[in-house]
Amino acid sequence: MLVIVKVGGSVIRKGVDNLIREIPELLNNGHRVVLIHGGGYFINELMERMGLKPKFVTSPPSGVTSRYTDLETLRVYVMGMMFLNKELVSRLQGVGGVNAIGLSGVDGGLLRARRRESMIIIDERGGRERIVDGGYTGKIESANKDFIMRLLNDGFTPVIAPIAMDVKTGGGALNVDGDQALEVLSTSLTPNYAVILTDVDGVLINGKVINRVSAAEAQELFKNPEVRGGWYEEEGLYGSPVGW
Ligand SMILES: Nc1ncnc2c1ncn2[C@@H]1O[C@H](COP(=O)(O)OP(=O)(O)OP(=O)(O)O)[C@@H](O)[C@H]1O
Ligand SMILES: [Mg+2]
Repeated sequence: MLVIVKVGGSVIRKGVDNLIREIPELLNNGHRVVLIHGGGYFINELMERMGLKPKFVTSPPSGVTSRYTDLETLRVYVMGMMFLNKELVSRLQGVGGVNAIGLSGVDGGLLRARRRESMIIIDERGGRERIVDGGYTGKIESANKDFIMRLLNDGFTPVIAPIAMDVKTGGGALNVDGDQALEVLSTSLTPNYAVILTDVDGVLINGKVINRVSAAEAQELFKNPEVRGGWYEEEGLYGSPVGW
């Protein structure tokens, strides 16, 4: 069986010992595994240590808050994500029986994304909507299935960081969403299981897990204040809203 697992930043922050133990078992039982990881919390931590303020923007109509990736942020993002990537790979290599190989979506043209050229945000001062440059984030359009299959056939366990290459020639690296990487890789590789490994039982509303949602219901859930981002809101690490 082929299993694709997105390891949440929430899990990495709390410790990956259980995960590291379970991967060899899966492989020993003849399964093949592809890992994708997050780690937004770590980028914040790094930026703070560097004296840089993480920037966030709020998008209408959902009111969802997300990281704003300017060039400086992209540099720290790639730095931090690749550090976590190498940590995971070396832990997996160290446990024995797992030939882990760490990759960003740029390597081997693994993940191709279209840069968001502009975005509508809610201005923190005055609450008006405005259009601003999209920064260095993108929507993943495709995955290089052939490359991953070759790695799997050669006995490697790919560990993928949420960085993609801009489809535009010479466009460079982009910050992409790890959950979206799971979605695109799953559509492309058609695994037997696509797993989101996180530190919560599921999407919680009023403390209860929502077991099933339609796409339309999921859109509605965005409006619910209980559905928030991960690391940054929990820790109150809001940084500064982008001052335009
Ligand atoms: N309604 C909700 N139900 C469950 N979790 C929620 C909800 N709203 C926000 N969360 C957050 O989502 C987190 C889990 O998401 P995830 O595993 O993606 O971690 P993350 O901190 O968002 O890291 P990354 O996205 O970088 O992987 C939880 O720790 C919790 O803080
Ligand atoms: Mg998340």
